Amino acid sequence: MAGGFVSQTPGVRNYNYKLTPKVFVTCFIGAFGGLIFGYDLGISGFFFQGFLLLVGGVTQMEPFLEEFFPYVYKKMKNAHENEYCRFDSQLLTLFTSSLYLAALVSSLFASTITRVFGRKWSMFLGGLTFFIGSAFNGFAQNIAMLLIGRILLGFGVGFANQSVPVYLSEMAPPNLRGAFNNGFQVAIIFGIVVATIINYFTAQLKGNIGWRISLGLACVPAMMIMIGALILPDTPNSLIERGFTEDAKKMLQSIRGTSEVDEEFQDLIDASEESKQVKHPWKNIMLPRYRPQLIMTCFIPFFQQLTGINVITFYAPVLFQTLGFGSKASLLSAMVTGIIELLCTFVSVFTVDRFGRRVLFLQGGIQMLISQIAIGVMIGVKFGTVGTGNIGKTDANLIVALICIYVAGFAWSWGPLGWLVPSEISPLEIRSAAQAINVAVNMFFTFLVAQLFLTMLCHMKFGLFFFFAVFVFIMTIFIYLMLPETKNVPIEEMNRVWKAHWFWGRFIPDEAVGVSAAEMQQKSV
Ligand code: BGC
Repeated sequence: MAGGFVSQTPGVRNYNYKLTPKVFVTCFIGAFGGLIFGYDLGISGFFFQGFLLLVGGVTQMEPFLEEFFPYVYKKMKNAHENEYCRFDSQLLTLFTSSLYLAALVSSLFASTITRVFGRKWSMFLGGLTFFIGSAFNGFAQNIAMLLIGRILLGFGVGFANQSVPVYLSEMAPPNLRGAFNNGFQVAIIFGIVVATIINYFTAQLKGNIGWRISLGLACVPAMMIMIGALILPDTPNSLIERGFTEDAKKMLQSIRGTSEVDEEFQDLIDASEESKQVKHPWKNIMLPRYRPQLIMTCFIPFFQQLTGINVITFYAPVLFQTLGFGSKASLLSAMVTGIIELLCTFVSVFTVDRFGRRVLFLQGGIQMLISQIAIGVMIGVKFGTVGTGNIGKTDANLIVALICIYVAGFAWSWGPLGWLVPSEISPLEIRSAAQAINVAVNMFFTFLVAQLFLTMLCHMKFGLFFFFAVFVFIMTIFIYLMLPETKNVPIEEMNRVWKAHWFWGRFIPDEAVGVSAAEMQQKSV
């Protein structure tokens, strides 16, 4: 495939690269890093959907709850519910989402390992801790083992999510960076779908063996990322940053498939020189010159979770139950949303480097906004504020269709781009810290939304969908005004993009790009 491109930002160099088998295989294996997060989300989905549906007759959670949470289990069986107020145990949710807090903490540590020892060692540690966690869970004899296991899984997710997106963005040729980085989100969804299928089969096994297999099988994606990390080379950017200049040049030549890499190599050297001036990335990221990156790495993950994706996919099984799918409701809804999400993520893979990040963000945002409002109106009309109305099959079908439209919108916008954009917008010296912030904020809001979702649904009722719609509206405007287009821009040239931006330009010092903001803006008109 020819690799030429025309960059939109003035002063940004054009590299002309081919897609090499080496970079393809490397990024393919690197993307495995998303599998552990996905498998875990699939298992969490199994917990959450199990809680939601248990009273409705889904039995998959019963042996597990009887073993570890007998008190909650008894209460749950006797719960009185309506469509909005489902059985809500903060303890159970806290147990399930303890993992996100662990991931939050570990991503902060991972940032130093990624910077000082290289991207691949954070990936390896992610696989290793996830592997140990899966053993604790699969062989759990008491609640302590279960909790330790979940925390270790969380550590693994934090390490992997901090390092893998950066790894992919640095390895990929600039003109295909979006597509390669999206491989991470593809792996996440693949992990979710696989975990769902495994859960479905293991739930049919009698006694405790079912959940033990489901939790224990997390060791498979863990091993894949561990082995992958061992055989993968590190990125040229990281090699240079750590002083292996010659190795970096050879690596760059081999992944780009040409010996003519001087320009890009010089960019990496310059970036590394800048990087050496910065001894404390955590302190430096607070400096005004990094304000655009700091704001984006905080707001993008916050907004990604405030799209309501996890709430809507957790709520979907309730509707499938209404449609009469009984004990299959949980599986079916997860399969439908998972497969749609998987297929639609490929829309992003194939368009993100052609049409750009902004178009996908804006189109996906509008699609999510409209479908969320429609879902809120339909549920409001059908269940009112009391939550006990009756919903016919046609209407329930329509709501499910709207959910699919919403999921598709997320799948080609905030899903993959929520990982791509934060990993590509920061200069080398703060990249690792910035990605840690991205993961930490993402995990914190995943935790918060999971923790509060059932209470919010009970109090806000159908208004919950409008609540998320308001956020989708705000984030779409935010992207329109504040996010410059980064497609095709070499990762170590990103400062130029910020410098040319109408608002952020003022924060980037002239010496960072060798030209003044006024000149950049003039050139971009
Ligand atoms: C998000 C998760 C979400 C997953 C699947 C990821 O990009 O970070 O919160 O569960 O996509 O939708």
